[in-house]
Amino acid sequence: MARTEFLAERINRIKPSPSMAAKALVDKLRAEGRDIIDFTIGEPDLNTPTHVVEAAIDAMHRGETKYTGSSGTPALRKTIAEKLHRDNGLEYGAENIVVGSGGKHVIFHALAVSLNRGDEVIIHAPYWVSYPDMVVVNDGVPVIVSGTEQQGFKLTPESLEAAITPRTKWLILNTPNNPTGAVYTEAELVALGEVLERHPHVWVMSDEIYEHFVYAGVRHVSPVKAIPSIKDRSLVISGASKGYSMTGFRLGFGAGPTSLVNAISKLVSQTTTCPSSISQAAAIAAFGGSQDAPREAAKVFEARGKLMAELLEGVPGISVKAPRGAFYLYPCVAGLIGKTTPDGQALNSDLDVVKYFTEYAGVATLDGSAYGVAPYLRLSFATSEESIREGCKRIAQACNELR
Ligand SMILES: Cc1ncc(COP(=O)(O)O)c(C=O)c1O
Repeated sequence: MARTEFLAERINRIKPSPSMAAKALVDKLRAEGRDIIDFTIGEPDLNTPTHVVEAAIDAMHRGETKYTGSSGTPALRKTIAEKLHRDNGLEYGAENIVVGSGGKHVIFHALAVSLNRGDEVIIHAPYWVSYPDMVVVNDGVPVIVSGTEQQGFKLTPESLEAAITPRTKWLILNTPNNPTGAVYTEAELVALGEVLERHPHVWVMSDEIYEHFVYAGVRHVSPVKAIPSIKDRSLVISGASKGYSMTGFRLGFGAGPTSLVNAISKLVSQTTTCPSSISQAAAIAAFGGSQDAPREAAKVFEARGKLMAELLEGVPGISVKAPRGAFYLYPCVAGLIGKTTPDGQALNSDLDVVKYFTEYAGVATLDGSAYGVAPYLRLSFATSEESIREGCKRIAQACNELR
């Protein structure tokens, strides 16, 4: 029997996360001695706040190094309920909270406990690359609704209405959005809510992992706050990774009806048992302590995003807008398609542009194709100002050398 025949059909339905694959490529090129500027990064480059690190160390010294309940410790679940009240104006009890090993872990488990074969999940493109694969591996069918730049890359009530069928189980909403940085206004959410109110069988997965990162006076509004009628059929997702520079702690949460939260917890009890006890202690300090770190990080990212957009403005073939949220730009590269590189290669897609920038200019980026809307690039500005300046200079030069 060939080795691959041993593997389940399920694993062949999905691909490795493109951003993790890009990270591996950057590591490989650097190991070969190449000088690569990395604009693929999906995590803050800032340090984890000191009081959070200390909370983790203190927890270890106190002996909080053992299994916890599969939904998380009572103290952390209470802190998260308080955080949701303080930051998002949402009222949940500790019993509505499930803590997971990252927001991704909670989303995966939520899909696993709710999807039957053939159930549909509406995903608006451009989307975070993991949503469709997480749906597919759990026997669901992603229903991709393509967004356009003219609509600010936001789902409209009309396209939501058109996508809903009797098999629709979930709508995944992501605000602020990865990869476009789009942030839904309260009015836009209310308009989507009017459609959702007509279809009470549709649940809403509200991924708010970038909630701290909104710019230019834009405010983050939780969809569940804007549309209170969906609260008993919604799962709010957030976590410590982005706002508190804690990606390696692997700590996220879901807030929703106890029926769903308990089902997730039941599955977690048979998969990872519980999130790391040490990370949970750290998360109490993050969510419950001083909120200076996410506020400061937002200022840093706002300045960097603005800088990156300014440096790319006017580069021939690239069309860019200043970001509203998250830490990504999603420039259109239609103007580069059809051009020829100095080595005589034709650029036929955004994948070719990524290859050209990586190999020729030493700047790693991600293709919009992976995020469902092409030809675009996803550029992360969660990197130093120096790297932003150098990377944009190289991109501009590479574009100027195209024929
Ligand atoms: C849109 C979105 N949701 C969720 C996550 C998951 O983050 P984590 O699992 O680190 O909490 C990410 C991480 O990149 C993301 O971009």
